[in-house]
Amino acid sequence: MILEWVSYIVFYLLAAVFSVFLAYCLHVHHVHQKYDHLPGPPRDSFLLGHVPTFARAMKSDSLIHDLFVQWGEKYGPVFRMNSFHQTMIAVHCPEATKIILMSPKYLKDPSVYKRLFNLFGKRFMGTGLITAADHDVWYRQRRIMDPAFSSTYLRGLMGTFNEMSERLMDHLEEIADTKTPTIMHDLVNCVTLDVICKVAFGVDLNFLKQTDSPFQNAVELCLRGMVLDVRDPFFALFPKNWKTVQQIKEAVELLRKTGEKWIQDRKTAIENGEDVPKDILTQILKMAEEEKVNSAKDHEQMLDNFVTFFIAGQETTANQLSFAIMELGRHPEIYKRAKAEVDEILGTKRDISYEDLGKFTYLSQVLKETLRLYPTAPGTNRWLHEDMVINGLKIPGGCSVAFSAYVSQRMEKYFKDPLKFDPERFDVNAPKPYYCYYPFALGPRTCLGQVFSQMEAKVVLAKLLQRFEFSLVPGQSFDIKDTGTLRPKSGVICYIKRCS
Ligand code: HEM
Repeated sequence: MILEWVSYIVFYLLAAVFSVFLAYCLHVHHVHQKYDHLPGPPRDSFLLGHVPTFARAMKSDSLIHDLFVQWGEKYGPVFRMNSFHQTMIAVHCPEATKIILMSPKYLKDPSVYKRLFNLFGKRFMGTGLITAADHDVWYRQRRIMDPAFSSTYLRGLMGTFNEMSERLMDHLEEIADTKTPTIMHDLVNCVTLDVICKVAFGVDLNFLKQTDSPFQNAVELCLRGMVLDVRDPFFALFPKNWKTVQQIKEAVELLRKTGEKWIQDRKTAIENGEDVPKDILTQILKMAEEEKVNSAKDHEQMLDNFVTFFIAGQETTANQLSFAIMELGRHPEIYKRAKAEVDEILGTKRDISYEDLGKFTYLSQVLKETLRLYPTAPGTNRWLHEDMVINGLKIPGGCSVAFSAYVSQRMEKYFKDPLKFDPERFDVNAPKPYYCYYPFALGPRTCLGQVFSQMEAKVVLAKLLQRFEFSLVPGQSFDIKDTGTLRPKSGVICYIKRCS
């Protein structure tokens, strides 16, 4: 009798599993039918779509973004990719880029950004500024945060940019004396981390003087975790990866605990009537105050933004600086011209003023061209909720649209001889790129720290050119490493000499 019951239960369970699987397969088939009129690479399999190709590209040490460039060249400005039941449409058509990215009605794709809510189950960027897909949730935060990025406020940050860059110069003087090569990425990374700690949160940590800082390691681990968790849904399932997963979870915890402490310290300072800067932390607290925050949920959102500013506001600029140093090292004539401009504007003076920044025309071109070839945050996604015709192709609503600055900015169609590093493309008389150059994204969800980051990058690079000659150690790779953001694989190893 019991055996009979067990066999009935097993039968019904198997039938239920089979029915669910069948329904899922039918759904996948329906999704394929809906979008298969669009060009795109052949799927690896019916269910997995292109996931195995992505996994192979990630394992093979090649850059997945280069695969997207190849697909862009082969299949045109609109092509389709599948992952299980989801379809993602890659768009590199300037008109559609303008329409979608410039309009507030196309929201960030929640299915993409909610993957950064947690890292391996630990709350990470939650519903902070980058990840909030809901327009109202995002807009409230952005409106309150804007004053911390106004030109008046940014002007006042020149002192900090100068001070933190001077620390790097002091450090480089010591290195120059030893005549040994140094990894430039590690050093500029310390500067941008110091800057964000000081400018955003009023904390001075001096990472150049620290070896093996747990906080710096935690930021690094979180960035690595983002790639693993977002791009490989099966990573945490394999026991060989459990140690890494655990380390990443601890890193997230350390970051959020640090945020909690700094927020508490600032609250105490305010309660004690101390004069506090109107920095990003003040705005985060103001946000909480305006929203009448006191629930645990809202407290978590403050920490979401704490994490967001570390993730968004540091590596991206450090990587841009490293790529710029790499390209200047590879192109002596560009290096000479940039240095001549810096020397003419600064002479021997140490403190760079806000007005000086506006005069660095060629240096700005170098930085723009760096972000063209190496957009350190390579893309963004939007949710297409309604049908649209793009490049003559009807795209049914209900899919994710991917915009890759990396692909657009490396397409022959938009940038002649795209792999050539040529700052002349951004000469004032050169034609302006039309919605095919967007290293900071575009429209309402454009980077909040764009001006901030480029002020910081100019100060560091100008001081470097003014005071040192750097040459690349021969034989190193000029490849790109994808760690969520894009960075130079070699770390940019240089010999440093003081300028005579
Ligand atoms: C070279 C440096 C940087 C690059 C290339 C860059 C690029 C980007 C890109 C592409 C986005 C859009 C992300 C998306 O749609 O998923 C973004 C958003 C954002 N970035 Fe940056 N970023 C840089 C530096 C910074 C800095 C220094 C800060 C802060 C101090 C910052 C804060 C933000 C914030 C808060 C957002 C979200 C904006 C919103 O949705 O309202 N970024 N950035």
